[in-house]
Amino acid sequence: MLVQRFKEKSVIVTGGGSGIGRATAVAFAREGANVLVADIVRDRAEETAQIIRQASGSAEAHQVDVSERAQIDGMFDRAIALFGQLDVYFGNAAVIDMGTPCEDMSDELWHRNISVNLSGCFYGARAALPHLARTKGNIVMTSSVASLGGLAGGVAYTASKYGVTGLVNQLACEVAARGIRVNAIAPGGVLTNIFEVMDFAGVDEQVKAVTPLGRFAAPEEIAEPVLFLASDAASFITGTLLRVDGGWRSK
Ligand SMILES: NC(=O)c1ccc[n+]([C@@H]2O[C@H](COP(=O)([O-])OP(=O)(O)OC[C@H]3O[C@@H](n4cnc5c(N)ncnc54)[C@H](O)[C@@H]3O)[C@@H](O)[C@H]2O)c1
Repeated sequence: MLVQRFKEKSVIVTGGGSGIGRATAVAFAREGANVLVADIVRDRAEETAQIIRQASGSAEAHQVDVSERAQIDGMFDRAIALFGQLDVYFGNAAVIDMGTPCEDMSDELWHRNISVNLSGCFYGARAALPHLARTKGNIVMTSSVASLGGLAGGVAYTASKYGVTGLVNQLACEVAARGIRVNAIAPGGVLTNIFEVMDFAGVDEQVKAVTPLGRFAAPEEIAEPVLFLASDAASFITGTLLRVDGGWRSK
């Protein structure tokens, strides 16, 4: 029998148009959730929502740039208008800096990584809190193995992901008394479209070499741990960074 841990719950997934976000949105919907699939690329978000609806799930697509506070606020307004409540916020959208060396890092690339990856998570968390206080809901954010050491990104991506992990630690302590849990997931190498902006051959070799399991994860292998963190099975887990990295940071 299919487990329905999120029946009658409402979830926002950012970066839901691709990769980890899409796999997680599909998994939440399969377990009964109403999902707002939010992405900067409207067509990709719509595609994910259609995949969910074709499987008899409940989803709507929403276009958002998570680095724009006003757009984040609009996304929450839409979710509440559609579903009436919010139970889980999955802050997952991010960009990469292609491992650009520090001296070659443009101001623009630096600021884009910080504003999407870190400020986006902050704007989302801040807007989510009043809704989650009502439902005793929770937040999961996608950090990275890049928040646990060097050589998993350039300085901008790495600094942004250290920031996400710090945000999760601080916020978890701040809001625990209101019954809200806040956790992060730290994927290692995951086969997604995120690498389409860089030469994949080098990444492929590097990731396989540093990963004891010797391969990339499928997005679905990240989605399942996200659902665990968001579920009641994780009711005593808050402020945790869960590594799902094939052993990368055990080395
Ligand atoms: N793929 C990996 O190896 C890996 C490893 C560690 C962490 N991560 C993290 O996983 C998360 C998801 O990445 P993915 O690998 O699934 O990548 P992906 O490129 O497949 O998906 C990311 C999605 O985010 C969207 N997006 C980008 N900027 C946005 C913005 N400003 N507002 C809203 N949406 C935006 C993109 O359009 C895309 O659909 C990211 O936080 C990434 O840093 C990925």
